[in-house]
Amino acid sequence: MNMVELIRKKRRGEPLTKEEIGGFIAGYTRGDIPDYQASALLMAICFRGMDARETADLTLAMADSGDRIDLSAVRGVKVDKHSTGGVGDKISFVVAPLVAAAGIPVAKMSGRGLGHTGGTIDKLESIPGFRTELPNEQFLDNVNRYGMAIVGQTGNLAPADKKLYALRDVTGTVDSIPLIASSVMSKKIASGADCIVLDVKTGSGAFMKTAAEARLLAEAMVAIGKSLGRRTVAVISDMNEPLGREIGNANEIREAIATLRGEGPADIAAISLALASHMAVLGGAFPDYGAAHERLAAMLASGEALAVFRRFVLAQGGDAACVDRPELLPQAKRHIDVRAAAAGYVAGIDAEAVGLAAMALGAGRRRKDDSVDHAAGVTLLRKTGERVEAGEPLCVMHTNGDNADEAARLLERAYTIGADRPAPREYILDTVR
Ligand code: URA
Repeated sequence: MNMVELIRKKRRGEPLTKEEIGGFIAGYTRGDIPDYQASALLMAICFRGMDARETADLTLAMADSGDRIDLSAVRGVKVDKHSTGGVGDKISFVVAPLVAAAGIPVAKMSGRGLGHTGGTIDKLESIPGFRTELPNEQFLDNVNRYGMAIVGQTGNLAPADKKLYALRDVTGTVDSIPLIASSVMSKKIASGADCIVLDVKTGSGAFMKTAAEARLLAEAMVAIGKSLGRRTVAVISDMNEPLGREIGNANEIREAIATLRGEGPADIAAISLALASHMAVLGGAFPDYGAAHERLAAMLASGEALAVFRRFVLAQGGDAACVDRPELLPQAKRHIDVRAAAAGYVAGIDAEAVGLAAMALGAGRRRKDDSVDHAAGVTLLRKTGERVEAGEPLCVMHTNGDNADEAARLLERAYTIGADRPAPREYILDTVR
């Protein structure tokens, strides 16, 4: 394969063949194609795009660049969920037990956090004793016995994507819809799911700043799912402020447990119920979305999903007492208020700034090998649309360290206070099937 000709072809806006895309991915993964040629091709894709067939071929080539997880030992239709990333996103801890309570198995592999967004695995590890590494047989057995298991990513899943993502990060080629869509979907395909439900975030705290961009990304991913034989639904949800009121590891587990008790914030409950309903329909538990939503809402209220979560925690070695008494989860030594400089209504909370503040307090990682403080985080006492008087606390920082000044500056800047109450936002903006 002539890489220079491939770059020129895409630069002219012509579609690449399946063989050309496969040759590029295989060659780049092996190290035969240098970064400078891969960067040039990525930039040409950013400018010229890819059609649906090319995007599906790219996805499949990346999914096939490493191991594929074999979930055939799990009984039933396997439905996976993926979020494009947000701050305070603890939706998986509510969705997975809800879907499992409806009889649909959830075998989930998740990652650790980096930068301003937290990771599912770090959050689970705030539960004392909880093991996120299980031998493969136990992982599959737990799914069959308890309906769900969540472990850290193991093996060599989509190594082409790992390498290309690192290159995109430093060459200004992250924000291209075919590249993002194929990156996300290649990992889901390699993880072995039969059906996929995507939570595509839009707003100031998300990759996709507008609902129109988010819809294009959602459509691209649903089209990939369709051409690769995975039924896929994408929900577009608001990420103009953090989800819920808790940001951090133990904090977010506490808020997820509150939601499973029917006492959680409205945004977490609404988005969780929507995603879980789509998953349960794809898995065949209900004939339609309306029936699924009604039944799952009842399961949330009755504590059935909470019972699944308790069994899941116990099965992975965690202290299940924390589920009934969340105050047993790690708590920070110091709790410091950040106060409003003026009276008014909260007009917005910059999710990325809140995520960076939580990271500064120790809840997240600046670098891949940093450790995290499970007790650190932020509680938002005021959210968008709520009234605050001058000098009243907007939020509380939880910390064991001495880094509260940087976090406080970020949090003060994160809040916008205005004279008028802003119109309420919808949590779910659109759905692509
Ligand atoms: N998340 C991914 O996994 N890949 C992207 O390209 C962007 C976000």
